[in-house]
Amino acid sequence: MSVPLSPFALSSLVTSLRSAGCVFAEDEADLIAATAAGPVELAAMVERRVAGHPLEHVLGWAEFSGLRIAVDPGVFVPRRRTEFLIRQAAQLAPSPAVVVDLCCGSGALGAALAAALDGIELHASDVEPAAVRCARRNVGGLGRVYEGDLFAPLPDSLRGRVDVLLANVPYVPTGDVALLPAEARVHEPLVALDGGGDGLDVMRRVAAEAPRWLAPGGSLLVETSERQAERAEEAVGGSGLVPRVVTSDELYATVVIGTLPAD
Ligand SMILES: C[S@@+](CC[C@H](N)C(=O)[O-])C[C@H]1O[C@@H](n2cnc3c(N)ncnc32)[C@H](O)[C@@H]1O
Repeated sequence: MSVPLSPFALSSLVTSLRSAGCVFAEDEADLIAATAAGPVELAAMVERRVAGHPLEHVLGWAEFSGLRIAVDPGVFVPRRRTEFLIRQAAQLAPSPAVVVDLCCGSGALGAALAAALDGIELHASDVEPAAVRCARRNVGGLGRVYEGDLFAPLPDSLRGRVDVLLANVPYVPTGDVALLPAEARVHEPLVALDGGGDGLDVMRRVAAEAPRWLAPGGSLLVETSERQAERAEEAVGGSGLVPRVVTSDELYATVVIGTLPAD
């Protein structure tokens, strides 16, 4: 669907977006015009964007690992830097692999790994009902999505069988949430951002329980910040996994990988 715009209409759309502080106003105007089903929807989308809603919530989708992922209002927008975690996971995964996407949000990570690998068994979970609904759309027939706290809703039959445990948990320290851009602070749920005092509370809970779910040789992958990496690595190592930190300058991404020894 798209709305054809005259050069004048396009230029006035770009001006509105630029005045609202959109740095990539031309690109955003093209995306909004290409996504809107008609002029009425186009006007509503521009109004929401100018009011400060994230572009992805306005469009209803985000690009992630070459896929178009549906992102509903109130659901965390998958970040491009998290593609680094997926690249690492794709290198580690056996074939076929049992994959769990914990704290799945829109389900982008599991969907991306399923697209990159043949025949994975995919399970995803999140505590937020809006995220679970969105993830069910993105995961579709590729896997199952459960609602609940961390590992609690997963079937017991997965214990000791998980080859790849993706966990992009909230990791912003509570005191830093107020410093986030409004697009995140206002339009993404606090539960998707706030990782507790030092930002690692949820990650520590995941690391502590991960060894009971991983298959021998299986790996947990968590995204963190450069600043938190050392403490995140300690937490992963403290749970009995063999930890290592990998970074990408290109995507400005840091991932801690913890592997359960095979014997
Ligand atoms: C940073 S977002 C990441 C979402 C998704 N993995 C991604 O990268 O796009 C963190 C997600 O964790 C979920 N979450 C936070 N605490 C949780 C908990 N205790 N159990 C399950 N999910 C949780 C939030 O609802 C949110 O969707």
